[in-house]
Amino acid sequence: MKIVNAVVSLFVAIIAAILTKVYMPEKNGFGLVIDFIQLYSSVAEEEILRRSTEEVPGVDNSENVEDMDTSSWEYGGLAQELGAGQEVVKSRAVLKQVKEHMLGLDDDELKQNCVNQHKSCVFWASLGECSANPSYMHVSCAPACLTCPKIRFEHRCPIPDNLAETAIFKPHNLNAMFGRVMESEEFRKYKPVLVKEGPYILTFDEFLTDEECDALVEFGFDKGFERSSDVGKTQFSGESEKVISSHRTSSNAWCNKTCEEDPVINRIHEKIAEVTGVPFNNSEHLQILQYFPGQEYKKHHDFIQGDSDKKACGPRVLTLLLYLNDVEEGGGTSFPDLLGGGIVVTPKKGKALMWPSVLDGDPTRRDARTMHQANPVVKGVKYAANSWLHLYDFKTPNAAGCTG
Ligand SMILES: *[C@@H]1O[C@H](CO)[C@@H](O)[C@H](O)[C@H]1NC(C)=O
Ligand SMILES: *[C@@H]1O[C@H](CO)[C@@H](O)[C@H](O)[C@H]1NC(C)=O
Repeated sequence: MKIVNAVVSLFVAIIAAILTKVYMPEKNGFGLVIDFIQLYSSVAEEEILRRSTEEVPGVDNSENVEDMDTSSWEYGGLAQELGAGQEVVKSRAVLKQVKEHMLGLDDDELKQNCVNQHKSCVFWASLGECSANPSYMHVSCAPACLTCPKIRFEHRCPIPDNLAETAIFKPHNLNAMFGRVMESEEFRKYKPVLVKEGPYILTFDEFLTDEECDALVEFGFDKGFERSSDVGKTQFSGESEKVISSHRTSSNAWCNKTCEEDPVINRIHEKIAEVTGVPFNNSEHLQILQYFPGQEYKKHHDFIQGDSDKKACGPRVLTLLLYLNDVEEGGGTSFPDLLGGGIVVTPKKGKALMWPSVLDGDPTRRDARTMHQANPVVKGVKYAANSWLHLYDFKTPNAAGCTG
């Protein structure tokens, strides 16, 4: 509402400025617009001041901030920026609790590893970010959120007892799904083509509309493409290290909340669920990819070691690679290790390529035959997106910081 008011008022101010210019030419009417903007920004500043001077109940202001060495381990081991004015008072209240929390830990390994990883952790905690954004805060700002025990993966992310029952593919359901896609009349519209059998690899030659492709690329630009990383070794928190390597030289952007809630993008997820029978909750955020000439992703597998027995989302069972534009030359997807010789799939706008990462007979185990690579682009740019589907619900453990 505030924004609407501001826009309407700005509009009125501009009209007033034009009228002033016409009827009182000696006055600079557009000065009014500047005054208006200054007025509005000062209102916002007052609001900030008001909020930061709210009384904080139960806070003892007597202790001096300088007495608190925020870089010592009792305060989370990284010097904190506490804001200004009353923000410091709130942050200091958090710090007192942090000290009690840290002193109360009886596990030395945990004490050493429980560190605020950002200089604003305590400040964010004082604003309520621990409950607003737990997946990041409970791990990366664990001292500030008083959640040190949660940095142990097994405490934060227990595996539900009935997990196996919720598997979307029971043994031998995966090949049955591929068979259904190839045979059934209702999927003809997506032009399925069987590229290889054992394991099944297929393309839908007309899967996405131009509008859907363009929307994804646009979201990639809105978010900003960043250099892609590889999955590295597992850290204390159970999260995988992100490694930049010459093995993978593309850039990518994630289709997170705003992108995912867009109605056009929603249609893409609906199509994926329609053909695979895998519900939206089992899918990772779409990863939007950008490859310039010479960029590639050398031979790799989408199955991440440890996902089957340690993560509540289970392994990635299927990949749909969505091609979002026509590439002038290069940029094909090849599977070099298939029985009877490798294959290369050529990108084409709207086409989707689908393959399994796990075995039909045991969908918790990796299918080594589907090693693949993104060949270097020779000419032009390549846009594509990865849709990774898991054996179990991904969204719920993801929100709890249990899929990293
Ligand atoms: C977006 O999603 C990806 C993958 O799930 C995650 O790594 C990243 O941190 C998320 N970014 C934001 C801003 O939530
Ligand atoms: C899907 O995930 C969301 C977010 O964790 C959760 O609230 C919802 O209950 C899940 N839906 C189903 C059908 O499991």
